[in-house]
Amino acid sequence: MAVTLNRITREGEYGPAMMPVIQGVGRAAIEIAYLLRSAVFRGALGAAGVENVQGEQQQKLDILSDEIFLDEMRSTGHVCAVGSEEQEELLVIDEYASADYLVLVDPLDGSSNLDVDGPVGTIFSVVKRKSPNDQRPDVSDTLQSGREVLAAGYVLYGPSTMLVCSVGAGVSGYTYNANNARFEVSHPDMSIPQSGGYYSVNEGNSSQWMHGIADKLVSVRHTQKLGMRYVGAMVADMHRTILKGGVFLYPADAKNTNGKLRLLYEAIPMGFLMEQAGGKAHTGEQPVLDVQPEALHQRVPVYLGAHASVDALIS
Ligand code: AHG
Ligand code: MN
Ligand code: MN
Repeated sequence: MAVTLNRITREGEYGPAMMPVIQGVGRAAIEIAYLLRSAVFRGALGAAGVENVQGEQQQKLDILSDEIFLDEMRSTGHVCAVGSEEQEELLVIDEYASADYLVLVDPLDGSSNLDVDGPVGTIFSVVKRKSPNDQRPDVSDTLQSGREVLAAGYVLYGPSTMLVCSVGAGVSGYTYNANNARFEVSHPDMSIPQSGGYYSVNEGNSSQWMHGIADKLVSVRHTQKLGMRYVGAMVADMHRTILKGGVFLYPADAKNTNGKLRLLYEAIPMGFLMEQAGGKAHTGEQPVLDVQPEALHQRVPVYLGAHASVDALIS
C-alpha cells in the first residue's frame, strides 16, 4: 500500500493539526494542475488585463489559481484567513473566522513561464493566529517570523505534479498518482547535498546587483565547481537546488533594492523548507526565518542553499 499524505499526521508536533490544511493544498494542487493542462483549450492563457497589488500584470491563471486555493482552504474548516500574492488585503473566511490557522500563499509562482509552457508552482505556509478566536483575524496575525511557521511547502507543476512540504520534522516529497488520485510519498526525507550542484540566478541583472555579489558569484561558482541552471520559477529552481545542491539567489539590485521575492509567501516558506532540508536561508543581513515581517507584501533578498555556497555569497 502506497504511503500517502496521511503520513503527515505521524510527523512532528504539528503534523496532526496541519493534516487537514495540507490535504486542502493537495486538492487545490490537483485542480490547478488540471486547469494548467486544459488552459489553452479554455481561453484561460494570457493577461487578465489588471494589475495586482505589486503592480504586476495578473495572468488569468493567477486569478483562477487564487480562487481555487481560497476555496480549498475554506473547505478545510480550519483556516480563518488567507494572505495571497493576488489579494491586496487579507482575505478573511467569514464562515470560519474563529478557526485557528492562517495560510500565506503564492497561488501561481513563475507565471511568466505560462507563455512558454514552462514549469510553475504554488508556495504556502501556515501560522497560528495570535488574536483571540472570538475576534476577526486581521493582517497582524500574518506578520509572524519564519520561526513561528507551523508548516510550509510548495507544489511543482512539471512533468508530474509534486507536493513538497514540512511540518517542522524534515521535508517530504509526494508525487500525484493519477491512477488512484492520491499523492504518494516519492521523496522521503529530502536533504540538500552540501557540495556540488548549481547556482541559480537571473544573471541578466548582474551589473545591477548590490554588495559585490557579482564578484562573489564568479568566485563561488569557480571554487565550488557549480554549474548553472535558471528556470525563472522559484519553485522549480528551489526544487532542483534542494535535490542537487548549490544555491538559489535573488539579490537586491538597483531596481529592486529590497530584492524581488516576497517575504511571507515566497522567502519564508522556502527558507523554512531549506533549513528543514539541512541547508541555509539568508537575506544577506540575517537568516530569512529571523526577519520580523512588517507588511503582507514585503520583499526581501534571498540566498537559499547549501551552507558553504550561501556563506561564500553573504560574507
Ligand atoms: P510570481 O510569478 O509569483 O510573481 O513569481 C515570480 C518570481 C519567482 O518565481 C522567480 O524566481 C522570479 O520571480 C523570477 O524573476 P526574474 O524574471 O526577474 O528572473
Ligand atoms: Mn512567485
Ligand atoms: Mn505568483
